[in-house]
Amino acid sequence: MRWIVAAALVACLAVPTYASIGNGPQEHPLEKFTTADGGMKSFAVNLNPAYSIVLNSTTQTTTGQYFLATITGPGAATDVVALYAPAPANYTTQIFVKYILGSQIPGYVPSGKGQYVFQNINYRVDTQFVLFTGGVNTNTLQTPNYNIIAQSPIITNAAPNQPVQGHLMATTDPSAMLIQWVTKNAPTPTVKYGLTSGQYTKSTVGTTATYNINNLCSGIAQGTGYFDPGSIHTANMTGLTPVTRYYYIYGSDAFGYSPENSFVSAPANGSLAEVKIIMSADNGQAYMDGSNEVRDEKPSIAVSQAIAAEVKNGYTMNVHNGDLAYADGFLADWDNYYEQMSLFAQSMPFMTVPGNHERDFPNSGDAFINPGSTDSRGECGVVYNQRQRMPQQPGWDYPALNTNASGANLRLYYSFEYGPIHFLQYDSESPFAPGSIQYEWILRDLASVDRKRTPWLIVGVHRMFYCDSSDYSSNDNGDQYMAARQRAALEAVFNQYKARALSPLLYHSLSHIDAMFYGHEHIYERTCPVKNGVCQPSDSVVNTGTLNVQGANTTTTLTNPSAPIYFLIGNAGRALTTYSFLETPVPVIYQNVNSVYGYVRMRVNATTLITEAVAIPGNYVFDTVTIIKSTPTTSAAPTTTLAPASTTPPSTTSAPVTTFAPGSTPSVLSPSPPSKADAITAALTDPATLVGDIASLPGTLLNKG
Ligand SMILES: *[C@@H]1O[C@H](CO)[C@@H](O)[C@H](O)[C@H]1NC(C)=O
Ligand SMILES: *[C@@H]1O[C@H](CO)[C@@H](O)[C@H](O)[C@H]1NC(C)=O
Ligand SMILES: *[C@@H]1O[C@H](CO)[C@@H](O)[C@H](O)[C@H]1NC(C)=O
Ligand SMILES: *[C@@H]1O[C@H](CO)[C@@H](O)[C@H](O)[C@H]1NC(C)=O
Ligand SMILES: *[C@@H]1O[C@H](CO)[C@@H](O)[C@H](O)[C@H]1NC(C)=O
Ligand SMILES: *[C@@H]1O[C@H](CO)[C@@H](O)[C@H](O)[C@H]1NC(C)=O
Ligand SMILES: *[C@@H]1O[C@H](CO)[C@@H](O)[C@H](O)[C@H]1NC(C)=O
Ligand SMILES: [Fe+2]
Repeated sequence: MRWIVAAALVACLAVPTYASIGNGPQEHPLEKFTTADGGMKSFAVNLNPAYSIVLNSTTQTTTGQYFLATITGPGAATDVVALYAPAPANYTTQIFVKYILGSQIPGYVPSGKGQYVFQNINYRVDTQFVLFTGGVNTNTLQTPNYNIIAQSPIITNAAPNQPVQGHLMATTDPSAMLIQWVTKNAPTPTVKYGLTSGQYTKSTVGTTATYNINNLCSGIAQGTGYFDPGSIHTANMTGLTPVTRYYYIYGSDAFGYSPENSFVSAPANGSLAEVKIIMSADNGQAYMDGSNEVRDEKPSIAVSQAIAAEVKNGYTMNVHNGDLAYADGFLADWDNYYEQMSLFAQSMPFMTVPGNHERDFPNSGDAFINPGSTDSRGECGVVYNQRQRMPQQPGWDYPALNTNASGANLRLYYSFEYGPIHFLQYDSESPFAPGSIQYEWILRDLASVDRKRTPWLIVGVHRMFYCDSSDYSSNDNGDQYMAARQRAALEAVFNQYKARALSPLLYHSLSHIDAMFYGHEHIYERTCPVKNGVCQPSDSVVNTGTLNVQGANTTTTLTNPSAPIYFLIGNAGRALTTYSFLETPVPVIYQNVNSVYGYVRMRVNATTLITEAVAIPGNYVFDTVTIIKSTPTTSAAPTTTLAPASTTPPSTTSAPVTTFAPGSTPSVLSPSPPSKADAITAALTDPATLVGDIASLPGTLLNKG
């Protein structure tokens, strides 16, 4: 997400080289310990025999192991206990992976003696705690000179090849399911799976890949933040029967397997039966033991746990639209991120798009380049690409590692079908405007959608397409500016194209995408059906609750909305965008605006899509949207009728129910809408034009309704 002090940032970004750009505002808790170009701030080692860190164990046998540390030191709130990995550390080049403050250790301040229970994930290497002074006690800019005064014994890693961080991913083939996991260097990565718990009748051997420091771009990712990812294993479970629970373990014969997990395979190709999906964005990650507490992503733990709890309610996928780990170049965070994601991603595929925190860096081919956003701190999408194997498009291969340190060659956009839904997942961090490869792909993908097989067309991306925000600054980090740029490139396309199997009976649903989900701002905002900034009619609308009021609970039920509904869902864990940052009064298109943590549950069958925005903590639903596709009745004269009194609790500000007869000219359509009759006629007389070569598509798609 953008940083509030963008104006100050602009001033210091005048010289477009990385060294002078610096890190900008410090977003990561470890960033205050490093220099702008990825070096370490000054330190000294002055071990004092009066101080110590004593551990109750010096061997790590599993991820998530607890260590009781007894700390004796000066007793200052600003003292820091940090974990180095690998150990022994080279303090000149390495940053620690996590830390706590003296003030977090019960009894330590001011007595100088306290105990803390750490929970350490498996970093595949030996580790060591150190105690230093000169640390920090707030999340503000500081220039510490650390003075290392005590070291714990080195913790020997006895299980570097323990298989961890499993996460599932759907493929374009519904009979296959991918999984990725991590070890140090285990040979013959294997997944064993079957229909019965404990009985694995099938087995598949996967592949191993990794990235190294030279594959990254610059900055922190190539400096103190670099962390050896070990081996990233990918295996493809194939031949799956649709909508069937599979039990599986992953690992290797040489070093053992994970605990058993299970998932439900995807619906059969063309199935219109109901699917249940979790939608989210911008979660981040946090340490279970309270390390890095100044980091503002602690709520992501509760959200991850709540998503995991949805497995028992039949939810079988999580679509997460960008900004994942917020590692910002501190690459050990990716290990903790997937430990946290595996809470649910070992039970349901985790489908993502890259966000600015995975991708953006000056001169790396990113789409939003002014003023030189450094948000990935030199990851440039390379780490994301290796760890999130999203579906390949026909004829494409996974992009090669970015050996020229630019990231420009990554194609991180894709589409896939899941039951009645076609998901088009584009990448706001790569060029998307007319003339770009991605734009041509978007047109081609839209044209390929058969709305008889997949009646629902849902677009996902990271950055906002519409948003309630008071940030109108005219640079790429300006909220309204970035949204306007995407709309200029794509809104017409998302509202005006034909599908191959166009049926006059389903005109409404065929003429535009149904919904769009994105993040970047850390808040929930849901619009009316919108085109060109204006609410568009539906055949019928029933609203409850108070629309356009921050923090209200609402529902809306729409039959055949005539434009897409936009969902900003960046509220999965990173610090919330506050109401003070938004416009007042709430612009009319934003019917529900809630600055609360959470995610969206979505149930979709052939005719009905229902979203429920869930608040965490509390687990209550604060916005429900029901979209119904029904066959319009025969043509009638234009009518606009007010609703009868609602049976739900009265609300004086509830919007009236408005009914538009099919074929009518609604009162709030944007300028020069295509006529429904023209659209249907054009498609029915010339359906073949929609599957021609790419070069012919822009005209075909944009000039006909
Ligand atoms: C060390 O202490 C922690 C926290 O009390 C405990 O969970 C763990 O089992 C202990 N380890 C050993 C080896 O006793
Ligand atoms: C630490 O790394 C620096 C830079 O690579 C190197 O010059 C130095 O010798 C290393 N120190 C130790 C103790 O290995
Ligand atoms: C799904 O069905 C469509 C149309 O019947 C076909 O074009 C497509 O190749 C199928 N996909 C798979 C993965 O079988
Ligand atoms: C997984 O297997 C399916 C079925 O053979 C195949 O279509 C798909 O391309 C494979 N995916 C990967 C990433 O290997
Ligand atoms: C690296 O990527 C940049 C950005 O697309 C491109 O201009 C350059 O030619 C590439 N360099 C090499 C050696 O491929
Ligand atoms: C929204 O609904 C929840 C759950 O019923 C309730 O606790 C909360 O007070 C409601 N909020 C408002 C503003 O009415
Ligand atoms: C689709 O879901 C809606 C809402 O749950 C339900 O009323 C309807 O009967 C379902 N339609 C089909 C074909 O299952
Ligand atoms: Fe973002």
